[in-house]
Amino acid sequence: MSKKTYYITTPIYYPSGKLHIGHSYTTVVADAMARYKRFKGFDVCFLTGTDEHGQKIQRRAEEQGVPPQEFVDEIVDGIKELWDLMKITNDRFIRTTDASHKLSVQRIFKKLYDQGDIYKSEYEGWYCTPCESFWTKTQLKDGKCPDCSREVELTREESYFFKLSNYSDRLMAHYTANPEFLLPVSRLNEMINNFIKPGLEDLAVSRSSFEWGVPVDFDPGHIIYVWIDALSNYITALGYASDDDSAFQRYWPADLHLMSKEIVRFHTIIWPAILMALGEELPKQVFAHGWLLLEGGKMSKSKGNVVDPVILVNRYGLDSIRYFLLREVPFGSDGVFTNEALIARINSDLANDLGNLVSRTIAMIDKYFEGVIPSERKAGEFDDDLIDLCAALPKKVEDLLDKLLFNIALTEIWKVISRANKYIDETMPWVLAKDEEQKARLGMVMFNLAETLRIVSILIQPFMPETPGKIQTQLGIINSPEATTWESASVWGSLPIDSKVCKGDIIFPRLDLAKELEALEALN
Ligand code: MSP
Repeated sequence: MSKKTYYITTPIYYPSGKLHIGHSYTTVVADAMARYKRFKGFDVCFLTGTDEHGQKIQRRAEEQGVPPQEFVDEIVDGIKELWDLMKITNDRFIRTTDASHKLSVQRIFKKLYDQGDIYKSEYEGWYCTPCESFWTKTQLKDGKCPDCSREVELTREESYFFKLSNYSDRLMAHYTANPEFLLPVSRLNEMINNFIKPGLEDLAVSRSSFEWGVPVDFDPGHIIYVWIDALSNYITALGYASDDDSAFQRYWPADLHLMSKEIVRFHTIIWPAILMALGEELPKQVFAHGWLLLEGGKMSKSKGNVVDPVILVNRYGLDSIRYFLLREVPFGSDGVFTNEALIARINSDLANDLGNLVSRTIAMIDKYFEGVIPSERKAGEFDDDLIDLCAALPKKVEDLLDKLLFNIALTEIWKVISRANKYIDETMPWVLAKDEEQKARLGMVMFNLAETLRIVSILIQPFMPETPGKIQTQLGIINSPEATTWESASVWGSLPIDSKVCKGDIIFPRLDLAKELEALEALN
């Protein structure tokens, strides 16, 4: 039987400048999910990419005096390097300037035109260039863009329109029949109250005032307006409307479109309506997470208040940054990014809790048993509590990951880490070691600690790509595949009998807060 598939996407990012930690957040979340689903045996397709057309990019390129393609090529190279640095395991990377994407978008546009879902008329509206969004007069807030509060321009031009107004009822019916289509639920109410209930207007889907886009092939003065071009990426990346659509047949509908809340409207109203018009299935779920905020405001390239992920990863290591992103912010809510919070998390959760558990355990096995995890063991007080927690952990983590509750999944893993540290204090191995009669008891304590670490090292794999291997190397099981499979985390006692630990470097060195704050200030 063929494997179950799992198709997950991030937004395709604008290559108008370097990406910041906010973009990395969505991509790291998607990566954690993709890694988890692969461990669970799914045939995963994880897509990310870049949204390269539009007036804003054209203007940026003009400002720099380079052709737009050259302008985006350089930025996209940087984005790909960033994802390599962050060990993002995307299976595909789509650029809306890919020839195959452009051809498919033209075919999609033509099909919709031929069947009457797209028609030609004249457009008048208020355009926010930074957001690439058109607004009607009533949607403006104090005459400014309702999303970013910047100036909008009154624009009038001949344009093609998509008959979005035809789809209100079908969209409502879909939301009702699929209560998990858009999560968190609060966002769905926003969509219904702010957009569906006031009545959907037809949508301008072409522009003729600039050139940087996919031309309408049967009316070359027009280019396809960015959202049809952009949203279609989720299917063109799978070969939709191309000569080989086998990946589309295999992976569509998407299991999860991830993004933050400002583009939910496009993904839960316009995108499903386009798919309905094309006669294709809708994505199973759209999840809108919150924003990473900086000093009270949203991080944004145009405001210039951004945190550079490259600086952070180079200074603190990839796993510290991925851990922080996934642990600090309750998934779905906004979260404030501060350097203090980052350093505090690294020191408490990584250096103190996990790092100490690893170094203490390995050092004790080394000292008391010459590095070989003992096979002579005697059960005793406190064992069951730790073992029961470990035994329940894999299922808890899986249930939480299935619900995208990353921060709670990590909290549960860290409860076990704390419990194991407490177990050391309770069992006092250094006292047991003084008494030859207690050798077997000491052996059991060491085994339980090593086994806890083995399980933890497996379960943190979706979140942290580097640390699990380091722990497994120190435990001496890196070359024991049976002891490191995802399934083996659920089998207490899978640690091979003759494992020999191997003392290594401290996995998360403690940081000096004041010194780091000063250094980060200077670097940013
Ligand atoms: N090109 C469009 C998306 C088209 S998808 C068919 C776009 N690009 S973007 O470069 O602006 O990226 C927006 C996305 O980046 C957000 O939806 C979110 O996933 C991520 N984030 C950007 N800034 C963010 C924060 N400050 N916080 C959290 N996520 C953020 O919109």
